Amino acid sequence: MCGIIGYIGNKDTVSVLLDGLKKLEYRGYDSAGMAIVRGDRIIRKRVKGKITFLEKELKSSPIKGDYGVGHTRWATHGRPSEENAHPHQDCHGDIVVVHNGIIENYVSLKEKLANQGHTFKTETDTEVIPHLIEQHFKGNLEEAVRQAVREMEGAFAVAAVSAKDRGKIVVARQGPPAVIGIGRDEYFISSDINPLLSYTRDVVFLQDREIAVVRPDGVTFKTFSGRSVKKEIEHVAWNPVMIEKGGYKHFMLKEIFEQPQVIRDTFKGRMSLDTGSIYLDEMGIAENDIKRISRAVIIACGTSFHSGLVGKYFIETLARIPVDVEYASEYRYRDFIPDEKALYIFISQSGETADTLAALKAVKKKDLLTLALCNADSSSLTRESKGVLLTHAGPEIGVAATKTFSAQMSVLALFALYTAQIKGVLSREKSIAYIKELQRVPHKLEIILNAAEAVELLALDFLSYSHFLYLGRWVSYPIALEGALKLKEISYVHAEGYPGGEMKHGPIALIDEKMPTMVIAPKDRVFDKVLSNVFEVKARLGTVTAVAFRSDKEIAKSVDKVIRIPDIHELFSPFLTAVPMQLFAYYIAAARGADVDQPRNLAKSVTVE
Ligand code: G6P
Repeated sequence: MCGIIGYIGNKDTVSVLLDGLKKLEYRGYDSAGMAIVRGDRIIRKRVKGKITFLEKELKSSPIKGDYGVGHTRWATHGRPSEENAHPHQDCHGDIVVVHNGIIENYVSLKEKLANQGHTFKTETDTEVIPHLIEQHFKGNLEEAVRQAVREMEGAFAVAAVSAKDRGKIVVARQGPPAVIGIGRDEYFISSDINPLLSYTRDVVFLQDREIAVVRPDGVTFKTFSGRSVKKEIEHVAWNPVMIEKGGYKHFMLKEIFEQPQVIRDTFKGRMSLDTGSIYLDEMGIAENDIKRISRAVIIACGTSFHSGLVGKYFIETLARIPVDVEYASEYRYRDFIPDEKALYIFISQSGETADTLAALKAVKKKDLLTLALCNADSSSLTRESKGVLLTHAGPEIGVAATKTFSAQMSVLALFALYTAQIKGVLSREKSIAYIKELQRVPHKLEIILNAAEAVELLALDFLSYSHFLYLGRWVSYPIALEGALKLKEISYVHAEGYPGGEMKHGPIALIDEKMPTMVIAPKDRVFDKVLSNVFEVKARLGTVTAVAFRSDKEIAKSVDKVIRIPDIHELFSPFLTAVPMQLFAYYIAAARGADVDQPRNLAKSVTVE
């Protein structure tokens, strides 16, 4: 949700900013811009559209400078246009700001500033920031930013430069992430670590209500109230190769193919086949606390919500405790009933989703036990939560989540087994059997991926359809939801995910030869019921494609097409059924020429409400 970047050092500032913006583009891509300080002037370039447009503009009229800031935008206030693109400036063009987030009190601030003589040119909330800084500026940019942020309400990560107080970039954070990359006599500012990896892996994460002053010879940190803070440099494990496409046409395809390895990495060191034990020592929640929980509440958004739904089946089946799964955007506003015996589990790839964070804060306020499942170490979510379990998926660049979904399911399976063991509800033999089955998942996924071409051919047969129905029951119900979500978000084709049993209560009215149905049909406890759904669809002239076990001889007789997957224990079929759904959506979107990695109107990390 918007990306901010900054650079101060000896390299060519424009190239570093441009390179950084390309790596942040998945956060938003409706307009982009940069501002460079050259001598006592600030030069701005802004364009509507993607970073490539900015790149073209910079090629046709190049700019040079000593240091600067850049931005890629996902519009919240004001439509995507050159005028609304960041960086925004004060009345005289002496103070320039890039911003990620929303200034909630911008209307009243704007009114106040206008009364003080400031003139505004854009429809954005961001524009109040440079004017507010201008209002407080008495020669010291840091001090002016500090005064300004104390008046700002809402969520923001801001980077500011000034032509009147040169040689520094001032960064402030309240909510959305901001990270400083520490190089040799050079410093980087970014919304996440991806753009930094080609230059440095030493980083400092700004915490909420902190300000950094970044100069060519070092960085200093203060709180919004002016107290100096000493901060630790962290070394990140991700490397630059992880964010290259590696020969794949799109990041999404690469990430789909990474799933066997991601699952292996997420399981690594956390399970023993010999003893049947699960080791989650790093979780930060004592065994006794897990022992006393009698319920779990899973809270998340988007694809992470769907993995939470899969987790519900894992935890209820294995650990025998009830699980509720909630949308964070709803939960945060509910008068929820605090349950001291519950564990509140927050799932997020980014760890920065505003709704998930707000729900976590609401739960924490009631002093309840919290656990974060997250792919980003040092994110706001991992910092705020009592316990943390990391998914080891590596950076995910495609806006549509794929490998992090598998990694989340992996951690949820581990957590379910772990809880079952601590509660003493699972025998050693059963534990070993489940672990054995989980360890076979990566290889089975490789078999599915080796046959990706068959899914591609199938997808090509469906290019002309505008509506799809996805059905699944029991553990396959969340996969129906996720399959439909994948299709609609990247190919802009309408798709509905439904629990099979609910079809007769509405969606059945939609079925005709123009609305194909995708049925997730592993041979499990509800297989016969799913087959009944198939007959109901066929009786209404619908086309049915089924995702089914290799050993299933029956299904082919009843459906039009079958996507085969290896057999697996019924509880763990989501690991295998999800992947053909990702591939199907990918190939349809790619064949339709859609922008697979950066679908319109979406963003990878939704740091606004
Ligand atoms: C956005 C992304 C989705 C993601 C969702 C939740 O909508 O486009 O892919 O599932 O946010 O993100 P999180 O980082 O909290 O998992």
